[in-house]
Amino acid sequence: MTVTIVGSQLGDEGKGGVVDLYGDAADVVARYQGGDNAGHTVVHDGEKYKLSLVPSGAVRGKVGVLGNGCVVNPETLFEEIDTLHDKGLDPDVRVAERAHVILPYHRVLDGIEEDEKADLAAGTTKRGIGPTYEDKAGRRGIRVGDLLDPDVLRERLEYVVPQKRALAEEVFGADVGEAFDVEHLFETYREYGERLAEENMTVDCGTYLQDRIDAGDNVMLEGAQGTSIDIDHGIYPYVTSSNPTAGGATVGTGLGPTVVGQGEVIGIVKAYLSRVGTGPLPTELGGVEGQTPGYDPETGADTDEEELATYIRDEGGEYGTVTGRPRRVGWLDMPMLRHAARANGFTGLAINHIDVLAGLEEVKVGHSYELDGETVYTMPPTTEKWGDCEATFKSFDGWSEVDWAEVAAEGYEAIPENARTYLEYVADELEASIYAVGVGPGREETVVVENPYE
Ligand code: IMP
Repeated sequence: MTVTIVGSQLGDEGKGGVVDLYGDAADVVARYQGGDNAGHTVVHDGEKYKLSLVPSGAVRGKVGVLGNGCVVNPETLFEEIDTLHDKGLDPDVRVAERAHVILPYHRVLDGIEEDEKADLAAGTTKRGIGPTYEDKAGRRGIRVGDLLDPDVLRERLEYVVPQKRALAEEVFGADVGEAFDVEHLFETYREYGERLAEENMTVDCGTYLQDRIDAGDNVMLEGAQGTSIDIDHGIYPYVTSSNPTAGGATVGTGLGPTVVGQGEVIGIVKAYLSRVGTGPLPTELGGVEGQTPGYDPETGADTDEEELATYIRDEGGEYGTVTGRPRRVGWLDMPMLRHAARANGFTGLAINHIDVLAGLEEVKVGHSYELDGETVYTMPPTTEKWGDCEATFKSFDGWSEVDWAEVAAEGYEAIPENARTYLEYVADELEASIYAVGVGPGREETVVVENPYE
């Protein structure tokens, strides 16, 4: 059977921990979209592994698959695999021949275009994700399978690279280097192709996964990012360029919708909101200069809200891992979650980080929005309308700090009662059961209510 893991908010919900936990019972963990814009840390046998592309299951002896819906940067892929080898592991990673390849010019263009877009910039990770998906849709992309055939690779590069070079030089006035040089790219990527072939890493993803399922294996389908930054169902244009939603699990692997639908679809929810980048956020607390639209720390700050925001930000470690920039934070947004529950058809929920909210006297959620004189319970389709929404809050009594490791060991009933009331409100509203509750950053700090593979 399959278990699909989907972020239900804006990414960074703590999917990695759940994938890691439930992945124990899986034989194969397959990613179905995105590329090295994701990021997770896996701790195994006391050793920390930071991965952005290779599925975390590969650290634990599972087969890790990058599905056809992914965009693969071979440089990152082999760097991560080599690091795992250096640490004494022998990861089994397979890559779909239909997956698209991120080339150096994609990264360069991602940076240039973000700078040009100013207010419309999505604040991308600059890994070339968007430009690679653009080329996929424009039918000028290079696929993993093309790296295996030098004639095809050369033909594709000779067609596409002059266009990219002209775009960079003539439209954006940029200086271009070897990232736009056909010969250099051909040699480098042909070698990647040779390595993929030598190590027998490429697969016809749908066939491979279906064969494993037919043989009785458990397959986990791992979404990256989250529903509200899905290119179709998210807050366009502040989105990533793929489909983190559950539909992406079928087109991004080649498994039929009925196969994925017969399995479980677990929505990962963070108990509050955090966001990197600009655009509206109706349940935001306080603001962050340069990210919250119209925010002026001199005049715009409500001291109580700012204090709350700082508390949650500090407790949750909501600072950029690379830049150290504070992330925007806010209360849970139920219309956002109702939208996610419908778009993904969640069968279960994993709610993370309830420990971060411990110690607050009152915990609020945005229960609904007021929009143009009406009460609405789900997200409007345009980001501008979402920006017009005023959240109507519901209040819950807070819960105190407890020994969360003990709670995790004892089980659901050991969670403080007020926190359980909060969790059950969310589950009732989304009409999905609670499968797991995250009470701390470690994998063992999770209360497991249900194991989807059992
Ligand atoms: P891209 O995926 O690099 O094109 O970035 C597009 C948008 O998605 C930006 O707002 C990024 O901050 C966001 N994004 C991409 N990956 C992640 C993630 O793993 N977590 C949270 N946000 C992400």
